[in-house]
Amino acid sequence: MEKILWNDDFCTGISEIDSQHKRIVDQINILIDNLDSKDKSSTNKEIVSILDNYGNEHFATEERYMRSFNYPGIEEHIKIHNSFKMNTVKSAVKVIKGHEDVPEETIQFLRNWWSNHITKTDMEFKDYIRKK
Ligand SMILES: [Fe+2]
Repeated sequence: MEKILWNDDFCTGISEIDSQHKRIVDQINILIDNLDSKDKSSTNKEIVSILDNYGNEHFATEERYMRSFNYPGIEEHIKIHNSFKMNTVKSAVKVIKGHEDVPEETIQFLRNWWSNHITKTDMEFKDYIRKK
């Protein structure tokens, strides 16, 4: 699986959000690296739980910025965050029940979801701030 390559498409220009996104991308890249190495099951489970907690914290930060800028897309954006949270909970339950390691499909899902979310959905907020 290809790692996420950080580039300008990932930058919102809000340094707090960008550094949180970077941290999330770094964790996902560790999961992808671990796919090729042995003896990583506990590490991957730990990373998924870090991502889960950290993701929630990050969503709260983003929503705080959106509120402070009176962003009209905030309700829709919160819905997207919430449905992602539901999906991660489902994946986490799958991992706990019967899977030795984090399934590759979960890592793929996290990789695709975060890349898309940051470069597309979060950029709509960036565009809004820029035009303000
Ligand atoms: Fe977001």
